[in-house]
Amino acid sequence: MQGAGARGETGVAPVTVVDHPLVQHKLTLMRDKARSTKGFRQLLNEIGTLLAYEVTRDLPLEPVEIETPLVKMQGAQIAGKKLVLAPILRAGVGFLDGMLSLLPSARVAHVGLYRDPDSLEAVEYYFKAPSDLADRTVLVLDPMLATANSAVAAVDRLKERGARDLRFVCLLAAPEGIAKFQGSHPDVPVWTASIDSHLNEHGYILPGLGDAGDRMYGTR
Ligand code: PRP
Ligand code: URA
Repeated sequence: MQGAGARGETGVAPVTVVDHPLVQHKLTLMRDKARSTKGFRQLLNEIGTLLAYEVTRDLPLEPVEIETPLVKMQGAQIAGKKLVLAPILRAGVGFLDGMLSLLPSARVAHVGLYRDPDSLEAVEYYFKAPSDLADRTVLVLDPMLATANSAVAAVDRLKERGARDLRFVCLLAAPEGIAKFQGSHPDVPVWTASIDSHLNEHGYILPGLGDAGDRMYGTR
């Protein structure tokens, strides 16, 4: 992992690039335009599981008394309330099953946003979240951090509803998107599998992987 541990020095939460070989291998398969819808979806799901492992690495533990078949002992369990997974519709849903396979009791918030193709502004069409967001860690999920308009709008909305402890998880991030996101939400750390080169004139990430939602749902 690159980038973890820098929290606090600049006052801006870090961006962590998850450079695990399995993540990088699967990401390369996903970028290939010849990858089928089925393959793309399966890989996004698998990477979701691997990213869930990384993004939860520093969750606080608390002691718990248990009894093995032989003796009593003090074990450790994750402290506090269950996490919230907050996929940004549509493409963020691609991470959900993979993450839920490691975090089966997590709550789920849905944030429905689409990017206006001309203005590139995020337009909200749906929002549903647990009422006690203030008491939970929220993982905001979207494979693509391009202009960051969608990510910023999603985090704005979740904060409006009380969330205070958020983490943003994506597959690809553009440098422009990272700068915008950190400017708007300097308290929210980011995990990504790659920081790509730049955005094209239509706001697409280069080299990227194309339109994540279309590739996942076969709507090209
Ligand atoms: C894509 C993607 C992100 C957003 C990223 O969604 O899944 O949500 O674009 O771009 P941004 O950082 O410039 O906001 P899209 O609007 O295409 O909707 P979809 O997931 O329903 O296809
Ligand atoms: N949304 C996508 O799905 N892909 C991009 O490259 C940019 C935004």
